[in-house]
Amino acid sequence: MSEKFQKEINAIYEISKVLGSSPDIKVTLRSALVILSNFFKISKGIVAVKGDEEVEIISSYGLTREEEKRGKYKLGEGVIGRVAKNGIPIVIPDIKSEAIFLNRTKSRKIEDNTKIAFICVPIKIKNQILGVIGIDKYSEENRKFEDDLRLLKIVAGLFAINIKLNSFYEAEKFSLIQERDLLKNQLKERYSLKNVIGESEKMQVVFETVHQVAKTKASILLLGESGTGKELIAKSIHYLSDRSDKPFVRVNCSAIPEGLMESELFGHEKGAFTGAVSARKGRFELANGGTIFLDEIGDLPLSLQPKLLRVIQEMEFEKVGGEKTIKVDVRIISATNRNLERLVQEGKFREDLYFRLNVIPIIIPPLREREGDIPILIDFFTEKFNKLHGKNVRINDRALNFLINYNWPGNVRELENTIERLVLMSKDDIVDVENLPLNIREFKRTFERDVENISLPEKGLPEFFEIIEKEYIIKALSLTKGNRKQAGKLLGLTERQINYKIQKYNIN
Ligand SMILES: Nc1ncnc2c1ncn2[C@@H]1O[C@H](COP(=O)(O)OP(=O)(O)OP(=O)(O)O)[C@@H](O)[C@H]1O
Ligand SMILES: [Mg+2]
Repeated sequence: MSEKFQKEINAIYEISKVLGSSPDIKVTLRSALVILSNFFKISKGIVAVKGDEEVEIISSYGLTREEEKRGKYKLGEGVIGRVAKNGIPIVIPDIKSEAIFLNRTKSRKIEDNTKIAFICVPIKIKNQILGVIGIDKYSEENRKFEDDLRLLKIVAGLFAINIKLNSFYEAEKFSLIQERDLLKNQLKERYSLKNVIGESEKMQVVFETVHQVAKTKASILLLGESGTGKELIAKSIHYLSDRSDKPFVRVNCSAIPEGLMESELFGHEKGAFTGAVSARKGRFELANGGTIFLDEIGDLPLSLQPKLLRVIQEMEFEKVGGEKTIKVDVRIISATNRNLERLVQEGKFREDLYFRLNVIPIIIPPLREREGDIPILIDFFTEKFNKLHGKNVRINDRALNFLINYNWPGNVRELENTIERLVLMSKDDIVDVENLPLNIREFKRTFERDVENISLPEKGLPEFFEIIEKEYIIKALSLTKGNRKQAGKLLGLTERQINYKIQKYNIN
């Protein structure tokens, strides 16, 4: 064996040993280039990887970071671009006299007299071009580069396997990272509040806002129909805030007679009015340091609104019949199921007060707009009342369907009361349809549509109905796993009728 040949084999052996030695392909390839340079007196070497439109140097020997960074070529551009595009090696015996040589990395000083050759071979697997290896070599007069080419091709073969394996590994890592981030985001995006049930998107929006504002002192206005959970949310905000160890004081503005309201809110001095036998603290004073919850704020008498406005703005007031100014620090949460904007328009609610209360509005959607929450609320309340009443009642699927289909005008409170009654009244621990209240059993969903906003069907009513009919039949069939008789029943059709329609619409 010639000495040269022996040297080549040693080089290849050394390179094969470093490949795969580091999880970072750039490091591995650089080590390989260093070995090449030791064996063959190479002044510079690069490995570039091909993308869709470009080929880019990812590892080098004898180049600075800056020089390496400049190493980007369009496919077909310059020597590296050409080899990456065509997959055929190029040898340039003297880079000074070759026009296609770009010296893009600006790593060579072309002025001096030494002749430098550039040898560039593709890194290929089968017919797929993955990139290129290029080396600079001091060149002697009339030298042939066959030996260098042969060696570089072998090394390129080794690199190819390595780059390919790495791309599989990277793809896998990428998808794992994506999956992890997705899971993380899912976890991050789910908000929860103690004792407040809500998996629906709409409730998640509510929970997110609650978490965002709880720690601030901003006034919050909770809007929502009766029984949607306004008070529950108000308490959650308080318990999530820094004031949680201070009082949460509720004032029901609709339950207190107008004449007593002022003293209720602000307190009174002894003898302030008939019956005021002793001095008394108002709710604002009691709530000092904590949160005051002004429930049913829409019912606050107009006469008291200026005084409330002043408390909100200045955090100070005087007791009824008192002269001393009392200073407090309270966070204000108010709630109403009335349309405050309309009350403002009608002159029943002061606009300036409305703006002060409504710094952060939180709208709690009615239960009928978040059907998804119904089954979990049912589970939650069934468990709660089973425990409370020492029972073991379950609601069967048939009954559950009716409960989900009902529109719950009284929202969660109505649902809660219904479940408690069902648990209490149940004789055999199973709630079936006949145990449900009549209004729920006989409820038929009507389309609560705003006629103004209905657009006419494109193709006319008969065709529109056919589309809908077909969809319902498919849905019913999938629900009954293809049982035509049962599907017919669900839709109020006889077996004959449904068979006819299945044929008509060509449903499998
Ligand atoms: N998301 C929920 N999860 C669990 N329980 C809820 C939820 N929402 C409401 N509730 C329960 O429903 C009942 C009514 O809630 P709450 O009193 O907070 O409603 P509200 O909006 O203040 O009603 P109203 O306007 O009639 O005063 C309470 O017993 C409350 O615990
Ligand atoms: Mg309430």
